[in-house]
Amino acid sequence: MTYSVRLENIIDDAIDSKIVSFFIPEKHRAVFHFVPGQYITLWVEIKGIEVRRCYSICSDNDLLNAKGIVQIGCRMIPNGLMSNWFNHEVKPGDKVKLMPPMGHFQILKKKALHRVGFASGSGITPILAIMRETLQSNALSKFTLVYANKHTTTVMFKEALQDLKDRYLDRLTLIYIFSRQQQDNDLFQGRINKEKVNAFLQSLLPLGSLDEVFICGPNDMIESVANTLKEHHLPEDRVRVEYFVAGYTPLALQSKTDESIIQGAQPTNRLKLHLNGKIFELPMLAHETVLQCALRAGLDIPFSCQSGVCCTCMAKLLTGSVDLLKNFTLQKKELSLNYILTCQAVARSDSIEVSFDDR
Ligand code: FES
Repeated sequence: MTYSVRLENIIDDAIDSKIVSFFIPEKHRAVFHFVPGQYITLWVEIKGIEVRRCYSICSDNDLLNAKGIVQIGCRMIPNGLMSNWFNHEVKPGDKVKLMPPMGHFQILKKKALHRVGFASGSGITPILAIMRETLQSNALSKFTLVYANKHTTTVMFKEALQDLKDRYLDRLTLIYIFSRQQQDNDLFQGRINKEKVNAFLQSLLPLGSLDEVFICGPNDMIESVANTLKEHHLPEDRVRVEYFVAGYTPLALQSKTDESIIQGAQPTNRLKLHLNGKIFELPMLAHETVLQCALRAGLDIPFSCQSGVCCTCMAKLLTGSVDLLKNFTLQKKELSLNYILTCQAVARSDSIEVSFDDR
């Protein structure tokens, strides 16, 4: 379900990023209350193509309650589809469609005293919200941020980070790493990788002090940090990761892919789909995902990244079995409760029953 809201403003942030604010009408505010670390999905039409993109929320619920504002951080990519749209097509006052907040990248250990964030580039966006929540909600809690960028000019939310530092001087540690700007100390030069994490664990971040760790950035950075922490036997339940959406395909292009699947293909499986209180019986083609099958039938089901990253398309498998081609977001607990990503789920049994009404 989407909500029509007003785009309030777009302000410059770093040299290549912007902060975009949306005004949420009073009647929808409860729906847009979010947990720090979550994202919203923006639906736009660009040159006749429907595009859905997830953006992490960087603001807090106080701003939503007081002024009805939700903010996202966006890295601008030269000639990027959405970057051009933000730069040239949309303007303050325009109506846009948003899906409510979603996502599992959030605080789970409520009593954690020291949380650590490893962020690279725009990976800071959800971590900023988590950092603010950590520092505001408990006067004893501490946060350490290790934040990698090319250069000081590309540091996103520089002012917001400095404001937090000024307010929580003793409880917030900011560590900046730059890959294209010379630093006096090698520890702060380069990228976040295995060697860097090992060096931090030996010097500034003793393993035992890491109550909860949040990692967001490019896939290789996430994997090197998570794997290094694993090698040091940091329990898995203390580590949360959020992948960037990669390999995004606009819906219209996706439809072409569907056509190539359909040509000559015969239904091999049956899908029983529960959606908005109705039940649909659909023939599934070989190798087709639940999402592709539902879209082919013209059903309006929730999805965004189509890459197994965002979990917008999550549903519950009621009967039968599926293979998940990719999964960067569902946790063990959700998998054990039979939740699946419909954009990645291919039927393994003759028939499957999937419900969007049991999410
Ligand atoms: S649409 Fe994002 S995980 Fe399926």
